Amino acid sequence: MSDPDYKLLQSQMRALLADESDALANASNFVALLNTAMDDINWLGIYVLRGDELVLGPFQGLPACVRIPVGNGVCGTAAEKRETLRVADVHEFPGHIACDAASRSELVVALLIDGRLAGVLDIDSPSVGRFSAEDQTGIEDLCAAFCELQSGSDWSI
Ligand code: SME
Repeated sequence: MSDPDYKLLQSQMRALLADESDALANASNFVALLNTAMDDINWLGIYVLRGDELVLGPFQGLPACVRIPVGNGVCGTAAEKRETLRVADVHEFPGHIACDAASRSELVVALLIDGRLAGVLDIDSPSVGRFSAEDQTGIEDLCAAFCELQSGSDWSI
């Protein structure tokens, strides 16, 4: 397993999204690009904040649970805290929501657009401890760049 080149990935993402203002199209391409770049992943997608719930958005993987209340599961907890959660073994995370039984570790990054919580990026792996601190930093930087590119969009996806 090799780590993606996160710097290269960020320039690819900027090239892919820079000229497009549609948030749904950009979120979809962001997710698809990341999914092609990462090994040992079984689910990768965005949950969008709607009121006090996260609602399933663009993703790659098996069909997943549609609504997650803020505060529930790994995604809802990351949203509530507005911070990244890197869970080495989801079986050890109280309240983990098992959408795909194959998932064993998870990385969830809060998406903040113009200072407001817009949703989360959720990445699942079938391997325990799949995500390193370097993965966390790389994905956080990518998410920050993605959110900056969406600044000013109505994010009505
Ligand atoms: N495991 C997540 C739910 C989303 S799925 O993994 C796609 C959670 O506990 O919030």
